Amino acid sequence: MPLDITQRHRRLRRTSAVRELFRETQLRAADLIAPIFIQGGSEGPTPIGSMPGVFRLNPSQLVDEIKELWQLGIRGVALFPVTPPGLKDPTGTEAMNPACLVLRAMRAAKAAVPEMLLFSDIALDPFTSHGHDGILTPDGLDVDNDATVARLVEMALLHARSGADFVAPSDMMDGRVGAIRRALDSAGFTSTGILAYSAKFASAYYGPFREAVGSASAAGTRALDKRSYQMDPANPRAAIIDALEDEAEGADALMVKPAGLYLDVISALRRETRLPLAAYQVSGEYAQIQAAAQLGWLDLVQARNESLLAIKRAGADLILTYFAKEMARSLQAGT
Ligand code: PBG
Repeated sequence: MPLDITQRHRRLRRTSAVRELFRETQLRAADLIAPIFIQGGSEGPTPIGSMPGVFRLNPSQLVDEIKELWQLGIRGVALFPVTPPGLKDPTGTEAMNPACLVLRAMRAAKAAVPEMLLFSDIALDPFTSHGHDGILTPDGLDVDNDATVARLVEMALLHARSGADFVAPSDMMDGRVGAIRRALDSAGFTSTGILAYSAKFASAYYGPFREAVGSASAAGTRALDKRSYQMDPANPRAAIIDALEDEAEGADALMVKPAGLYLDVISALRRETRLPLAAYQVSGEYAQIQAAAQLGWLDLVQARNESLLAIKRAGADLILTYFAKEMARSLQAGT
């Protein structure tokens, strides 16, 4: 005699076909944004020790990479320059150089694949000698919010002029989204979007990224660390307040970062806003999956897929991830 039960949930899990038919969450290549590190010179691709499979590319390699990503169905890339130490100073002067690496790379990318959406990071940390995202107060004990916003506005205009489709302020200063929106509009860049790093937490998981761009000096070993501007990992409500402020200031899309450790924040924010939501699976999230896979402790592909699916399921529309290319390849191959 079969058990007298009305529901047998396993009916919808029995075969791969039935599972596919009833799947609630799907990942698409077009959900993914590929972060790319760029370096000057003719060398490379240069591997990054703590990020297996990720390389620093020079501008011509970047163009090839973007062509390949486009073929794989990726529609957006986020560019991060590596600035040689000799070009860094306390105010990040190099960020305002119209011929700086990231702007040259962006122009080359736009010329080669105009449809590919360029997200450009707006923050001073790749350019400052101290590695902070902004300009310090004269006593060096704080990042000067308003002076930094003025620089970020200038930077956003330069990036828009060089072909950025979206500027993505990642600095966590107050009032920067509104200031950037107004400046873009007055300069005629009404079509340039803003993807706001709205809820960016002061996370240990940015470590490998800081190695990749050489901004590690601000990681917390000095008098001033990034906890004075990035969010407290303990504060989900504060994250919603900040994100809704960015929406009110004119952001086109909001971002939560890191992603996998903040799924609660993604899902709470999903209920609070109707704007598109992005989440950044950061360098440390990538590194820990890669490391466990190298040790034979996790299956790389399955852990990768599950980590990305979780972010999508929590409510993110877009995911910035270092797995973008490999994930898109798997999706294209149907594996
Ligand atoms: C800085 C910035 C950081 C990341 C993206 N933009 C690091 C930081 O705040 O120190 C981290 C991304 C990652 O870890 O993958 N503006």
